[in-house]
Amino acid sequence: MNILSFNSKEELDQHAAGLFAGLLARNPQATLGLATGSTPTGIYEKMIKMHQQGKLSLKEATTFNLDEYVGLPPEHDQSYAYYMNKHLFDHVDARRDSIYLPNGMALDLDAECARYDQLLAEKPIDIQLLGLGHNGHIGFNEPDDSLRGGTHIVELQEETREANARFFASVEDVPAKAVTMGIGSILKADTILLVVKGADKAEIVKEALTGPITTQCPASLLQTHAKVIVLLDHEAGRLL
Ligand code: GLP
Repeated sequence: MNILSFNSKEELDQHAAGLFAGLLARNPQATLGLATGSTPTGIYEKMIKMHQQGKLSLKEATTFNLDEYVGLPPEHDQSYAYYMNKHLFDHVDARRDSIYLPNGMALDLDAECARYDQLLAEKPIDIQLLGLGHNGHIGFNEPDDSLRGGTHIVELQEETREANARFFASVEDVPAKAVTMGIGSILKADTILLVVKGADKAEIVKEALTGPITTQCPASLLQTHAKVIVLLDHEAGRLL
């Protein structure tokens, strides 16, 4: 693992955006795995700025998002489809038909998971951006006795719903289920870019990166991947 610590979130965001820009310069048709949550918004801001400066183009790229809530339509302001449009896609040159997110409104969710896995198999991810949940979840792969490899439906843990309640009117409004790429699909990415910010994540960063590899901390499985880049602000990295 290549662990880099930054003095400011600003520098971290710039570095991450630079990694995406570099990859896209070398391979304009790259496949990017993208993430949501509060962590990546600054990275997307920097990517938009680089796009405006002519330094980053998504015109020929393909993107896959990690996850989506079940039952929220793309127009819902807390759906991840809405988030991605607002924070990135509406401001860059990505082609709409090369943007993939799981459809949490699909009537047949199992078929939707299979469709997503098929698409992922056709366009392997070159770099997968990940945030980190307080309980060690990545995407929406929650701690459990076993983890699933492919795209699947998850029941969100109460802790996760509470953590995400800040974006909704109340915790009851946070969907109980989500569709997420599985751990196997995440680990298939050529490179993984794990980004963590804030003192409240310092414990889980230490556990995930230096603790035992266990399904009870899904991010700990990243220790098994050959090419992981971890970007931390100094608060998130303070226990390492
Ligand atoms: C959410 C998302 C994850 C994200 C994590 C952390 O529930 N499903 O993909 O990485 O929680 O979110 P944040 O960056 O807001 O702390």
